Amino acid sequence: MIYPIVKYPDPVLQTPAQPVTAFDSNLRQLVDDMFASMYEAQGIGLAAPQIGIAKRLTVIDVSFQKDPAQKLTLINPEIIERTGKQCEEEGCLSLPEIRDKVNRAAEVTVRAQNVSGEFFEVSGTELLSRALQHEIDHLDGILFIFRLSRLKRDLQLRKIRKLQKNGEW
Ligand code: NI
Repeated sequence: MIYPIVKYPDPVLQTPAQPVTAFDSNLRQLVDDMFASMYEAQGIGLAAPQIGIAKRLTVIDVSFQKDPAQKLTLINPEIIERTGKQCEEEGCLSLPEIRDKVNRAAEVTVRAQNVSGEFFEVSGTELLSRALQHEIDHLDGILFIFRLSRLKRDLQLRKIRKLQKNGEW
């Protein structure tokens, strides 16, 4: 099924998610549904809290359906190494129309489990590195606007309030 995307300020987006403990057919179905929901929403990453499920699970496809080998399912992911710095523009399906540059590590290595519960590691630079950090932030209840300076964050929060007031959110 295609899940609707939960938008800020829904509290599920600002609450740390719970570890996944059951590696069963329900989890496999949820992962399939998350990819379908992400593609439907034109996203390259989707975390379970963004569909209202407070579990530590995220899917990423920076190729956006062009290369199946780049589809990533990350269950209970943890960043185990970060190096360097980058600052590029990000957006978020839960913050439509909001874009801003975010300070991130240039390269990260993530340890996670797959749908069978097996551990693996994945490293990424550039867009994949940003996606990994952005999606894992979601599992910790952190939206990218809360990684901005106070000035920039307040500007973006004002823009959101205006969109809400105009019924465009
Ligand atoms: Ni996001």
